[in-house]
Amino acid sequence: MELTTEQISRYDRDGYVVFPELFSTQEVAILSGEVDRVSKIDSECIFREVENGPAKTIFRMHESDGATASPAFHAACRTPRVLGAARQVLGDNALYMHHSKVNVKSAIQGSAWPWHQDFGAWNLDGIAAPNLTTMVVLLDDATEFNGCLYLLPGSHREGRHDPYFDESTAYKLWAVGPSRMRDMIARYPDPVPLTGKAGTAAIFHCNNLHASGHNLSAQDRCQVYFCFNTVANRPADVENPRPDYVRSQNWRPMQLGDDDGVLNSASVPA
Ligand code: SIN
Ligand code: MN
Repeated sequence: MELTTEQISRYDRDGYVVFPELFSTQEVAILSGEVDRVSKIDSECIFREVENGPAKTIFRMHESDGATASPAFHAACRTPRVLGAARQVLGDNALYMHHSKVNVKSAIQGSAWPWHQDFGAWNLDGIAAPNLTTMVVLLDDATEFNGCLYLLPGSHREGRHDPYFDESTAYKLWAVGPSRMRDMIARYPDPVPLTGKAGTAAIFHCNNLHASGHNLSAQDRCQVYFCFNTVANRPADVENPRPDYVRSQNWRPMQLGDDDGVLNSASVPA
């Protein structure tokens, strides 16, 4: 997939571009089956809101080694649709994955993510420049009712805001404070809900402000985030670095795979 000039200028202007149904129903079924399989594993790469409860976040499904490795996710993030698009928006062919995560926001119980910029935390990982981008792929239909992601169009253009460590939800993260958010929302177009059919995807800039609400519905809302950095922008050493599953040190440039990679992975034993 080659992004058009119009899509590239939309990415520059809004900080994101949406691709309706980028992955087929069959590919989504394979990826979702892998989430079910891996979520039963006991691993430090899996975060659960409640001990022994359902997985809320699964890291590192994109690698070929480790407890959470999945051939289908390994293939998905290397497709021209995903890696090719990331290369294009970052203007660099030498990319690696800072991390990948699958967020399973479970029916009724799945909780919110406060407003934040991904570069809020990634800068603290030792990454100097905001040259990262994320491709999110919906693995369930996403609605406003089931806690879809909201993006604040154009918000990446003001750069990084100093974050605070938000501990109000089970998944603690570096977030942007309420007074700054009130000001940003007042000055920008309304936040855009990333809703759509499973398989829909969006690529967004690491300084784009985003958040999501509680899942009030009876349906799970699962989505995967592939977070790409340029090899040239890999992190400098920091004191107490986060674990490798969230601050990867696999800085080898990723190789472009096949667009049929997810479908073909189904015949490879996991
Ligand atoms: C995130 O921005 O890190 C996750 C938000 C979500 O999955 O709703
Ligand atoms: Mn985020």
